[in-house]
Amino acid sequence: MRLKTLEWLPDEKKVRLIEQTKLPGSIEYIETDDYLVMCDAIRRLAVRGAPALGCAGAYGVLIGALSLAEDGFDSFSKETRRIMDELRATRPTAVNLPWAIDRMESVLDQQNDTRAALDALTKEALAIHEEDDAMCRSIGENGATLLADEMSVLTHCNAGSLATGGMGTALAPVYVAHEQGKKIHVYADETRPLLQGARLTSWELQQNGIDVTLICDNMAAVVMRKGWVNAVIVGSDRIACNGDVANKIGTYTVALAAKEHNVPFYVAAPTSTVDPSLASGDLIPIEERASEEVAGFDGCRTAPDGIKTYNPAFDVTPNELVAAIITERGVHKPPYDFSFLRG
Ligand code: MRU
Repeated sequence: MRLKTLEWLPDEKKVRLIEQTKLPGSIEYIETDDYLVMCDAIRRLAVRGAPALGCAGAYGVLIGALSLAEDGFDSFSKETRRIMDELRATRPTAVNLPWAIDRMESVLDQQNDTRAALDALTKEALAIHEEDDAMCRSIGENGATLLADEMSVLTHCNAGSLATGGMGTALAPVYVAHEQGKKIHVYADETRPLLQGARLTSWELQQNGIDVTLICDNMAAVVMRKGWVNAVIVGSDRIACNGDVANKIGTYTVALAAKEHNVPFYVAAPTSTVDPSLASGDLIPIEERASEEVAGFDGCRTAPDGIKTYNPAFDVTPNELVAAIITERGVHKPPYDFSFLRG
């Protein structure tokens, strides 16, 4: 069973999203034709994960454009570009979000009539979503070649179907290997502070019949030391030209532990996650989130009032810790040089 993380409803001209903050307790949906609801959903992580943010950004532009009063193409175009800027600013790290919105803007650049522009923007948003689905499948097929008949994989955060417009990135090789009859077990890190591993990864793997064991983040090195992990596969929010990789906070720690225990550390992501304009990971903007996420747990305050906190949502793993980067184009090995993706 694979639920649709995002879906375009053509008759209603609305987008439907799984409300991920409610998982796994209940499966609820947001159905909206209001781009401000989409901005809020992105900020709250009701929709999250880099490729899904790309699709959400494109649909956000589309519903924003569709809602505009028809008073001439110039004002339509100006207002649509303002909506694009608002959507771009919702979360800074995943490059897929501005990448998809830039694609929508290029389409708008070629138009001079509102009705034709709306048709073209609709086609582009659907194409971004369909391409993401296809890229996930290719990542799965490429990544499955790295997995043996019986294997245990550790993952961090959620880079599965809930994070994409398809079957996932880091989890796609697991799903494809499972389809191929391989016996794959997954250790899912719980992923403090927002628990994407516990709430989302362990849930979607369980729903799809994959053998999964949930562990706290601070147990990853222990299961590696015991020899229970054969490979780490994580997703990414932005990959620099040199193969430095931004992903959910805690990924760097996992990569260090993997190196110490000779476990290959793989990153799976579509090429839309590569930012060839950045020479290294030091240039990747890292989102900092609210103090309450660290000072509390599940909505309850756990830390003393007035305590100082530091809450970056992502970290950067240097390329020398990355054994391979799996994209829809193949399995890239070091030394990494993604400059060929410059437009
Ligand atoms: O804050 P989130 O939940 O959006 O963070 C998501 C991740 O870090 C994922 O690993 C990454 O976006 C890749 S998703 C295929």
